[in-house]
Amino acid sequence: MKTMIYKGYELSDQTLQKHIKEVFHKGGLVVFPTETVYGIGADATNPEAVKQIFKAKGRPSDNPLIVHISKNSDLELYVRDIPLIAKPLMDAFWPGPLTLVFNKKDIIPNEVTGGLSTVGIRIPGLKIARDIIDIAGLPICAPSANLSGKPSSTIFDHVASDFEERVDIIIDGGKAEIGIESTVLDITTPIPVMLRPGAVTKKMIENVLGYKIIDSTETKIEDTPKSPGMKYTHYAPKGKMTLVDGNEKEVIQYINQEIKKHKKEKTAVIGASEYLDQIDADYKVNLGHLNDLNEIASNIFIALRQMDELGIHYIYMHTLSNQDIGQAIMNRLSKAAGYKIVKL
Ligand code: TXA
Ligand code: MG
Repeated sequence: MKTMIYKGYELSDQTLQKHIKEVFHKGGLVVFPTETVYGIGADATNPEAVKQIFKAKGRPSDNPLIVHISKNSDLELYVRDIPLIAKPLMDAFWPGPLTLVFNKKDIIPNEVTGGLSTVGIRIPGLKIARDIIDIAGLPICAPSANLSGKPSSTIFDHVASDFEERVDIIIDGGKAEIGIESTVLDITTPIPVMLRPGAVTKKMIENVLGYKIIDSTETKIEDTPKSPGMKYTHYAPKGKMTLVDGNEKEVIQYINQEIKKHKKEKTAVIGASEYLDQIDADYKVNLGHLNDLNEIASNIFIALRQMDELGIHYIYMHTLSNQDIGQAIMNRLSKAAGYKIVKL
């Protein structure tokens, strides 16, 4: 399949708009940028189009997809029993990196929700993404744009290498500002449940609601995962990744020792510049400064993909604060490491 590649800033072009609209309406696929990660989108009301997404990603259709809309007033077209707390949450965080789970209307087919009677909805914060939804004139369901087994894509090169010749259109929006997928919050239950941590943090949600929510994310590094392996291979690089938790000095010492041990193999360290300065490895990937967790978040998936591109055998990284967006970062890193965490 020939893939057309367009730049986000070209979207005002009428011919381009016509093409995008046609592709969506005939059940095709469009990879597009959002502020979190790139998405691979299709008409959320067309079951055949939705099936194409799973085919292109190369994964079974078990995981429910997020439906993207461009304005609050469209919400009621797709969901029912909208709880009262939806409005303050939407006012506070939409457009933005918060997916809210509602009871779905029949117009959203089971192919989108993996058979669930609920559907996750969000309005993306990136204007290019909202423009694309408006051009389509449809709700757009989109999982993260990555082949099965790879980390989510946050830059154009990664979506292009995964999806060129597998989709009709790729829209290049540059680097995703946030770099980590949206927070998923189920509000169909009496007390909302956070299912996935993201840039909209638990604390931010609780501040809006004025009460505590339930956190069912597998984030805390103390937790023993119930079923490591299958469920979490999603983010895992091919090399063996280990997270090292402890004070800065101990962690640096430990990582330097491990690297010496594995001298004959390719080793890499992913980390904040403050750590990397004191580490001696074949490959070092700098995520940014320790005091800027947002910068670090935006570089995580790029770093993880680099590990496979470079064919690294052993990967080390220090843990980060679990506060604020740190919870989302640690959630993704723990998965990437298959929950291998050395506590010093
Ligand atoms: O930031 C994002 O959310 C990106 C961009 C493209 O919007 N999308 C994304 O989609 O990360 P995906 O498919 O990779 O992840 C969707 C997550 C999954 O963890 C899924 O289980 C959860 O949302 N989810 C979706 N619908 C749900 C539902 N009805 N109930 C529970 N969880 C749901
Ligand atoms: Mg994903």
